[in-house]
Amino acid sequence: MKLEGKVAVVTGASQGIGHAIATGLAAEGARIVVADLQRAEEAAAGFPDGVGLTVDVSSEEDVERMAAATVERCGRIDILVNNAGLYASLAMRPFDQIPLEEWRRVMDVNVASMFLACRAVVPGMRERGGGKIVNISSGTPFRGVPFLLHYVTSKGAIVAFTRALAKELGTYGILVNCVAPGFTMSAGVEAHPEVVEKLRDVSVAARTIQRDQVPEDVVGATVFLSGPDSDFVTGQTIVIDGGQYFH
Ligand code: NAI
Repeated sequence: MKLEGKVAVVTGASQGIGHAIATGLAAEGARIVVADLQRAEEAAAGFPDGVGLTVDVSSEEDVERMAAATVERCGRIDILVNNAGLYASLAMRPFDQIPLEEWRRVMDVNVASMFLACRAVVPGMRERGGGKIVNISSGTPFRGVPFLLHYVTSKGAIVAFTRALAKELGTYGILVNCVAPGFTMSAGVEAHPEVVEKLRDVSVAARTIQRDQVPEDVVGATVFLSGPDSDFVTGQTIVIDGGQYFH
């Protein structure tokens, strides 16, 4: 097992893509910390020695508590997967109909959260001489998907964030990469039938691998970027969308 003895914090891991990633990391031996707004302890109970922390990733105080509580209970943080984000609950609409408050909330939850989590976790990684950070973006900024301008902008920012932070942290052995999934049948998506109806069939038709994308499709690349096989890879974005977009 490639992640034996490692501690991995996965945000938004109570369900969906985050839960699948946590399951994949645990299968390689990592101890999992589920940091989520809801059902964190319940989800953590499904992992050996799992730790559940109720955290709003857009709150500075919560994220600092997340890092401190992890170090207190697990001794260290080796892997941070910044996965929590707002997506399927967002109404698709022309850009000039997006309320400013909603724009700001999306930037807070999807982007500022990553800044806060990295700021809280990096000092410990630096002290121990290394770490792995994987940020979950999306295929939407590459394709320029319309009617979700705040979301697409936030996911594009994550790619830029990943590249610039990778340049700052390589010298400390901290590697920062990004995974960009296509439209995925996660719990969050399934809870919104109007989103499924609008995007499921067109997404499948746009792929060269013509089937539904499921959360498990994102696991292999994320585990790779969290483990020793990617020790010379940083600042990269892997698009996982069944061959919808090539960059
Ligand atoms: P989901 O809605 O199934 O799960 C998201 C999890 O994050 C939930 O457990 C939720 O409680 C948690 N969460 C939400 N806001 C939070 C906050 N402020 N603090 C802490 N936890 C919070 O979502 P899904 O679909 O699995 O998406 C996960 C990530 O993947 C998101 O960043 C999303 O943008 C990204 N993504 C999703 C795609 C999709 O089609 N489902 C495609 C590309 C990227």
